[in-house]
Amino acid sequence: AAKGRESDLLKLKVVLVGDSGVGKSSLMTRFVEGTFRNQMFSTVGVDFCTKNLEVNGRQVSLQILDTAGQERFRFLGPSYYRGADAAMLVFDSSNRSSFDSCARWLDELRLAADRRLTIMLVANKADLPSAAVSRDEAERFVQEFGLAGFAEVSAMGSGGGVSGAFKQLLKLRL
Ligand code: GTP
Ligand code: MG
Repeated sequence: AAKGRESDLLKLKVVLVGDSGVGKSSLMTRFVEGTFRNQMFSTVGVDFCTKNLEVNGRQVSLQILDTAGQERFRFLGPSYYRGADAAMLVFDSSNRSSFDSCARWLDELRLAADRRLTIMLVANKADLPSAAVSRDEAERFVQEFGLAGFAEVSAMGSGGGVSGAFKQLLKLRL
């Protein structure tokens, strides 16, 4: 029964991009480890994780690349976007300027990617009451820039919607 299993394994690489502090590392940790830290440990350079999961009956080996949002690491980004199949373009729903940065992140992503990326816009921190960006506005951005989808999530608490968002992105890519 194990015959051919290895060749059935689909390898996909997803990169997380967005401003520093939007919660990229928190989303990865929530999805891969099921945990959350309140403290901020800004990513230095890049971090990555792998997770095996089943999507639409297919075994997927997912590599997640968690990039650093800080300006001083910006030059590193493009070298990590190569080979990526999909991306989560993350903003903090309580932070307007992190949404305003999305167009620039998208430019960099598309410029450096060596294949057509399936990109999902992700509004993180849905648990916070002070939404600075409306769902309408986010959906208009998705339309305007030809992204594959939009998800509102929270890496905090029970991790509202985080694994659903990763799975949705993979389904859009398969
Ligand atoms: P860089 O590595 O600098 O690019 O930042 P990042 O995007 O990886 O952000 P990180 O995951 O380190 O999270 C930044 C801060 O936001 C941390 O203090 C987290 O605890 C907090 N945070 C992350 N996700 C959520 C969330 O869904 N809700 C709330 N309330 N806070 C969150
Ligand atoms: Mg980080």
